[in-house]
Amino acid sequence: MDKNPVTAIIVGAGHRALVYSELAITNPELLKIVGVADPNPVRRKMCMEKFGFSEDMCFETAQELATRGKLADTIINGTMDEQHIETAVPLLECGYDMLLEKPFAVCEEEASLLKECAKKNNSRVMICHVLRYTPFYYSIKERIANGEIGEIINIQTTEHVSYHHLSTSYVRGKWANSKKCHTTMLLAKCCHDIDLMMWLMSETKPTKIASFGGKYQFKPENAPEGAGNICMVDCPHVDTCVYSTKRLYIDHPDRWAFYVWDKLEHIDNPTIDDKIALMKSDSPYARCIYKCDNDVVDHQSVLVNFENGATGTHNMVGGSAQSLRKIHIIGTKGEISGNFEESKFVVKKINPSPDAFNEECDIEEIDLNITGDMVGAYGGHGGGDERLAADFVKFIRGETPSLACTSIFDSMAGHVSVYRADKSREMGGVPQSIEF
Ligand SMILES: NC(=O)c1ccc[n+]([C@@H]2O[C@H](COP(=O)([O-])OP(=O)(O)OC[C@H]3O[C@@H](n4cnc5c(N)ncnc54)[C@H](O)[C@@H]3O)[C@@H](O)[C@H]2O)c1
Repeated sequence: MDKNPVTAIIVGAGHRALVYSELAITNPELLKIVGVADPNPVRRKMCMEKFGFSEDMCFETAQELATRGKLADTIINGTMDEQHIETAVPLLECGYDMLLEKPFAVCEEEASLLKECAKKNNSRVMICHVLRYTPFYYSIKERIANGEIGEIINIQTTEHVSYHHLSTSYVRGKWANSKKCHTTMLLAKCCHDIDLMMWLMSETKPTKIASFGGKYQFKPENAPEGAGNICMVDCPHVDTCVYSTKRLYIDHPDRWAFYVWDKLEHIDNPTIDDKIALMKSDSPYARCIYKCDNDVVDHQSVLVNFENGATGTHNMVGGSAQSLRKIHIIGTKGEISGNFEESKFVVKKINPSPDAFNEECDIEEIDLNITGDMVGAYGGHGGGDERLAADFVKFIRGETPSLACTSIFDSMAGHVSVYRADKSREMGGVPQSIEF
């Protein structure tokens, strides 16, 4: 078996690609980064210095890289959602395998096009469904696969997007306006949750979906009286509004603010004065939360029907006091319920024996002990990011990857379900059939 590290070129050296590429630093025997393609010269230089390759392996775009033929085993594609087709297709055509961020395509037509391209070129394309790799969801998947709760009758998932995450990413930020980012809130945020539902229900497949949702909070008519346009320039509520940029980003500079500070990345160590100046500029992150060009929903409910008659629901609510992901799965022999943030779940198995605890069912409480600071120690997404990168190496080497490994073909069920759920929402909840 070839034990040389898998070689990779980063395409889109942003937040996500660098998270996965960290494996080359922590485990150089697994992964070696040998080049970068990114229009941003600061990011190209940073990669060159961090991973130690020469300037002739720096390219301005994915398209330019593709003109050079195949220069490595694989690509780590961390470009933005709407760029996945234009960056992935020419490189797959060159013969590269690829790690590709979710959502891998912004609409059904593009998803089919990319899937067909991978098939035609015999490419290994893995999609970054990092939550599958967290100990929480992975352990639940193992229990289901072992038949512990029998056949699943119903699955309920919930995601609460905290007020600081919602306001930064989905009201002021990169995923706020569907005409600019080409994604919906469900696709950008919950394609993880719908993917998890499809993965846990992999014995069957979705056939119909319906959805409702809308934008409830952040509209001009809900702004406090006399609100300005730029919090730190002309707003009398700058010290009292919970969404004021001063309170969110200056008083608490690490609260989802890494996207906000992207504009300062050309400065080595931005000072508080640099940050205040940005918050007084025309940066989209400086705007009054009620006066942005956001058009994506802030709450949405989805109802799924599966081929074997099982059902599922997903509820996304943005603007909550804390982030939360919860799951409850009811099977023919028992149930599993848990809280992702707490990394705890409970398995209850039907047991009519009078000796059984509680005289009704067996109860097992599982604490994965990954809370608070431990989440950081385990890496991003509860440790999912690191494990995903290591599994990608196995996938590329042709070794048996983990249960969580998501090829582009496995990712279709979740993506198509999201596209059809949004279609249903746009049509006022009319159920849509799902084929993929
Ligand atoms: N798996 C997850 O949990 C998760 C979490 C957040 C974001 N994402 C997804 O990750 C992706 C990247 O998000 P991000 O915040 O890291 O993005 P980013 O904006 O930080 O990085 C994107 C990079 O792509 C570069 N780029 C633009 N055009 C290019 C081209 N033609 N060729 C090469 N590079 C090009 C940009 O200059 C930029 O540096 C998105 O699809 C996003 O939705 C996934």
